[in-house]
Amino acid sequence: MRKRSSFDLSAQSEYGSHNLNNWSSMPHQFVAADWEQYRIDYHNPFQALEAPEEEIAIVDKVLARLAELQIIPHTRYDRARFETFRQAVIERFEIPWTAITPRMQCLLWALNAIRQPRNMLAAGIFCGNTFISNAGTGVGPDAVYQADNLVGIEIKLDEAARAERNVRAFDETGVAYIVAGDAVQVVGAFDKPIELLYLDANGTDARSKGIYLDILQAGLAQMPQGALVLAHNSVNCAEKMSDYLDFVRVPQRFTSLNVIFDVEGLEVSAV
Ligand SMILES: C[S@@+](CC[C@H](N)C(=O)[O-])C[C@H]1O[C@@H](n2cnc3c(N)ncnc32)[C@H](O)[C@@H]1O
Repeated sequence: MRKRSSFDLSAQSEYGSHNLNNWSSMPHQFVAADWEQYRIDYHNPFQALEAPEEEIAIVDKVLARLAELQIIPHTRYDRARFETFRQAVIERFEIPWTAITPRMQCLLWALNAIRQPRNMLAAGIFCGNTFISNAGTGVGPDAVYQADNLVGIEIKLDEAARAERNVRAFDETGVAYIVAGDAVQVVGAFDKPIELLYLDANGTDARSKGIYLDILQAGLAQMPQGALVLAHNSVNCAEKMSDYLDFVRVPQRFTSLNVIFDVEGLEVSAV
């Protein structure tokens, strides 16, 4: 994957060309016209919100924008396998609630199918729904590649236990597994390349999602060029995440796109 040259003094965004000195105030954004209306019932997350072709079209547009920015190398994923995966989650997972919309579930699965991380770490995975949206491309009945370690990290012991039960109903190989602990510690101790890091931990104090930057910095040295960082809640928690968003939106560090297609949002950044 091409890294933007430090000699590249301007860059394109939806707002046109800009000097990089002003970049942080003009992040790349993908904005769906209906993002404020597109809402799930957290307790009924698999209720259809739109026709399948509408979901496919919006996810395809996001992937095209990410490819245009060279955050991902291409836009192809197997929609039929994704549909089988979605059905398997409905049948096998105990999900008390989730904020992962069908669009988000599809985008996470597609990004993992495209990037195919050998090692994927997901921080703050609650019951495991977000985790399997990422890991479901490397394990289970519809795996599209062979992974080494797909690790979900959850600080609450009871939720970590529930997530592990859910994941075991999906993956018999043990490639996907849950670690009960603090994501800053677990990510910092991981000694293999991290090709994809998913961030969703809300911390244990008032900083809440402000913990994203600590988790990223704990793992950054292990992230090769082309590694992806996916940060959930880039819209509804943007204020709490402002240090993190400022960090990943410096183009000498990352190429980053804020995906605004639901009220939560996802910041997708490539090393
Ligand atoms: C809000 S939930 C994520 C839910 C997810 N967005 C969904 O819709 O399914 C955040 C999770 O992060 C966990 N968490 C908070 N701080 C953490 C930390 N330092 N390390 C690991 N997990 C953490 C919380 O216990 C919680 O289960």
